[in-house]
Amino acid sequence: MSSASGQHHDADPVVRVEQRWATVSIGIILAMVLMAGFAGIYHELMPQPRVETIDPRTLHLSGEFIESNLGSAVEPGGGVTVRAVGQQYSFSPPCILVPAETPITIRATSADVVHGFIVDGTNVNTMLVPGFVSVITTSFAGPTERHMPCHEYCGVGHEGMWGNVKVIDRAAFMRMAADRRRLSCVD
Ligand code: CUA
Repeated sequence: MSSASGQHHDADPVVRVEQRWATVSIGIILAMVLMAGFAGIYHELMPQPRVETIDPRTLHLSGEFIESNLGSAVEPGGGVTVRAVGQQYSFSPPCILVPAETPITIRATSADVVHGFIVDGTNVNTMLVPGFVSVITTSFAGPTERHMPCHEYCGVGHEGMWGNVKVIDRAAFMRMAADRRRLSCVD
């Protein structure tokens, strides 16, 4: 009797340590559940305001991304908006023409699957997701040529999905834009 209670007394520190760690583990799990719950509720209550949606099945039929509206356009404020579409396995236009020293807004989307959209050596790096319009702003300091590879695996032809960006002198670009509504290098 007395030896049994003695053994029980000896085990107490072990039990206390185990209980302490069990409490810590449960505490961590509870904290993670609370964080996940908070993140879910927060995102539900605060929809991302800048997400623009679009129907990828009708891109070529009507709206902003019909073929005749793709390419670079001068805006009233002097900036340039580029509209582009990615599809298996090319970009339209395949070569984007923009002026140097000009605020550039790129608006692009996908006609089929997720594609990558990156302009080498710049801050332009996004994905083209069917159903959504990706908007990126940038500018180029001077005339240059850049590669624009698809950097998201999009199917068997992914490796061959490349575009280019050609940056030219602003004055030359504006002369070309004077008699054309949309510009690209292939014009
Ligand atoms: Cu398109 Cu990879």
